[in-house]
Amino acid sequence: MHTSRLLLSAALILFSPLSVAEISAPKPPSAAVASAHPLATDAGITIINQGGNAFDAAIAVTAALAVVEPAGSGLGGGGFWLLHRASDGFQTMLDGRERAPLAAHRDMYLDDKGDVIPKLSIDGPLAAGIPGVPAALEHLANQYGKLALSQSLAPAIRLAREGFAVDERYRRLAGFRLKALQKSPAAAAIFLHNNELPATDFVIQQPDLANTLSAIAQQGAAGFYRGAVAEKLVNGSRAAGGIWTLEDLQQYKVSERTPVKARYRDIEITSAAPPSSGGIALTTMFQILENYPLEQLDKATRIHLMTEAMRRAYRDRAEYLGDPDFVSVPLKRLTHSFYAAGLASTIHPAKATPSDQLPGIADNRLGSDTTHFSILDREGNRVAATLSINYPFGAAFVPAGTGVLLNDEMDDFSSKPGTPNIYGLVGNSANAIEPGKRPLSSMSPTFLEDKGRVAILGTPGGSRIITMVLLGALEFATNKPPQDWVSAPRFHHQYLPDQLSFEPGTFSSETIAALEAMGHTLKERSRQYGNMQAILWDRSQNSVTAASDPRGGGLASTVK
Ligand code: DON
Repeated sequence: MHTSRLLLSAALILFSPLSVAEISAPKPPSAAVASAHPLATDAGITIINQGGNAFDAAIAVTAALAVVEPAGSGLGGGGFWLLHRASDGFQTMLDGRERAPLAAHRDMYLDDKGDVIPKLSIDGPLAAGIPGVPAALEHLANQYGKLALSQSLAPAIRLAREGFAVDERYRRLAGFRLKALQKSPAAAAIFLHNNELPATDFVIQQPDLANTLSAIAQQGAAGFYRGAVAEKLVNGSRAAGGIWTLEDLQQYKVSERTPVKARYRDIEITSAAPPSSGGIALTTMFQILENYPLEQLDKATRIHLMTEAMRRAYRDRAEYLGDPDFVSVPLKRLTHSFYAAGLASTIHPAKATPSDQLPGIADNRLGSDTTHFSILDREGNRVAATLSINYPFGAAFVPAGTGVLLNDEMDDFSSKPGTPNIYGLVGNSANAIEPGKRPLSSMSPTFLEDKGRVAILGTPGGSRIITMVLLGALEFATNKPPQDWVSAPRFHHQYLPDQLSFEPGTFSSETIAALEAMGHTLKERSRQYGNMQAILWDRSQNSVTAASDPRGGGLASTVK
């Protein structure tokens, strides 16, 4: 190249939209909130407009979702909040995952013969771990927020008192859990109407929940884990067969964990650390896929290789992962590129590896319904949070007088090695029940970053969360906008059962035939899944765009 042209291209690089100086300088031109319910998104925007930062908004959105999307998350549940502080680049994962009660034990869901008793870890107070959300709200306010906890909780308290209108999605999920909800008088009084499914537009008011939220607003976490609310939680759950004690509640503590980091091409991925399996599984999948020129391959081969990456990552999940406070997770080894290279070398370019040909594992578990939200503020602070009470409406149980729907996150433990849980996942002793232990999760709040762009994303969807984040991230990797990340057709493999499942309409009949010829067992699901909430800050374009999954009823808003 001629010298002057060289200089010119150097100048172009220096002054191109991707120049480092320009990238490191600016703040986002607008803030954004994407969540699974318009009223929760509005609560976040309100708090940002009142001068709150992304962390204050996260408090508002978490609490509002507990009110208006009771099927997905709540004060009686847990979650992971992935945080990025703009002032110094500090990143952490706030772990507010539920913990097993102190009286929990390994075989608590087994009968005399050692078989799993169906539903015991799903319905009613015995299914509930000790909630982490209230402690996380206080921690967010004290450590990261600018506003008082009471100010950030105000929108949720108002929503609980004034009520929200039942929509189709609520009716579908409450209908799914109708029988279980009818068994808990306090739950039925709140979430049903005359003990039946409420009609569309019926208004659900939650005065008890408003009082519990107010106790937290006034006293912080102690308003939930101590005093009158704690007593009602313990008495209510014990009267219905639960094992919680006041000591369980007093002992609950959130943890901050170092997020898991991986690279895929020029993208830095930051995702959930154990007790989530998300960051490690994503790392494995990305490192395997980095070996292939994915965009240049024919569709069937691309799907095949992605499926084989998923299969291997989920086998390791089942084998090795659990609460790092209890088991030693071989994180360094599992996230090392040499390890992924070894896994990749076992992938045949055109033939499925039957899962039973991989080294066996014992057992594991997972759940459905949950929620995710993403927030960016004008300073560049970010929150990606995935929160859960596990199954839709959790354990479908409310201790009287609290308004708090308890989780059934205990089902995320492996009740028995080798026996799949309600979502077909298997696991082994790393994820066995122990007092005080956190069940293994798939929740994967995630940041993606390359030279010019920052993404904040995540989704509910039980075991399929991690593969949805993978698919969304691959859309980001090919420069697609957030609308494409959240709406991309989805497919999934989780090692066991040994099948490649996919949303209706994802694959053409030719692709299906080609994948079957490679030895894959395909299973078309009856409905779509997931509810991804995503934000893109494109620094090179100085723009912020947000998108909410078309499958859900959420809302993504930006505000200048
Ligand atoms: O922590 C987990 O992995 C599960 N409890 C999440 C459940 C879930 O996402 C259900 N979503 N539809």
